[in-house]
Amino acid sequence: MNDLDQLVQDAQAEFAQASAPADLENAKARYLGKSGKLTEQLKALGALAVDEKKARGALINAAKQQVEVALNARRQALADAELEAQLRAEALDVSLPGRQRGSGALHPVSITLERIEGIFASMGFDVAEGPEIETDWYSFTALNNPENHPARSMQDTFYVDVKDADGKWFNLRPHTSPMQVRYAKAHVAKHAAGMAKGEAMPEIRVIAPGRTYRVDSDATHSPMFHQCEGLWIGENVSFKDLKAVFTDFFRTFFETNDLRLRFRPSFFPFTEPSAEVDIAFSSGPLKDRWLEVAGSGQVHPNVVRNFGLDPERYIGFAFGMGPDRLAMLRYGASDLRQFFDGDLRFLSQFK
Ligand code: DAH
Repeated sequence: MNDLDQLVQDAQAEFAQASAPADLENAKARYLGKSGKLTEQLKALGALAVDEKKARGALINAAKQQVEVALNARRQALADAELEAQLRAEALDVSLPGRQRGSGALHPVSITLERIEGIFASMGFDVAEGPEIETDWYSFTALNNPENHPARSMQDTFYVDVKDADGKWFNLRPHTSPMQVRYAKAHVAKHAAGMAKGEAMPEIRVIAPGRTYRVDSDATHSPMFHQCEGLWIGENVSFKDLKAVFTDFFRTFFETNDLRLRFRPSFFPFTEPSAEVDIAFSSGPLKDRWLEVAGSGQVHPNVVRNFGLDPERYIGFAFGMGPDRLAMLRYGASDLRQFFDGDLRFLSQFK
């Protein structure tokens, strides 16, 4: 065997050993690279006599061709192996059952909120939404709940690590009551300019449903829960109207006239007098049990003033109820937290 045959054989052996494309390219460089073994042979031709050069050149070229053939064959083999491995890794088991696309549905609390909105809209109430991250003024001070007043501790509030324009921490609103002030102020701003002197402001009649937050968690409390605020302000709106609105609302909501209502004296800083509202069914599984469903009262003069209205002229009532509670009653759910666990076995029952 001459030296070139040996060289070809060595190259073939090295290529065969390369198990990855990078190894193969390194082996190639050792033969065909700038200072590869075959390249060196070609360079050495220069030193030979003319006729020797011709014969030797032909031999070297033949050897080079053999090396190139071996290289290309190995390249192809490695590429095939790689593709093979990839196909195996991405194998598709066509016998697996297909994934079904589930059909979504409204959350029971959303269904309840829509129901509440629909009923109040039919009684002429507007529906408003507002921010869940609130300033101290809207959540408390504007609602006659001054700084350092013990009434503030009625709510265990979440605070946000950012201060508002008054230098107070923003809070996750503990109730929807700030919306009374936000909506009323906007209402006054909208109508004040176009009103003749002495002309009465159009009535404010609004509900504001939404998420609220408190540091609270047990079977009937969740740190995130819902409230629906209500406000009706005019020149001649009284507790009598509140009772009528509530009676109509609850009878429509629960689809029964077999339902009584009572007002229990209570305290809220933003209303005076204040009352807690209870309902009782006259039949069914909850027969004759008084269930607390809302807080309410006549809006405090200080709050009416913060609306931008004269409390000597404008009066009315506000209320705040818990839609989660109403959903629990309507659906007979026993643990409020189930609504927010995201367990489809529970939620899909409300489709
Ligand atoms: N904001 C009160 C709470 O979170 C509920 C409430 C009570 C709202 C009386 C009112 C009201 O508008 O008049 O417990």
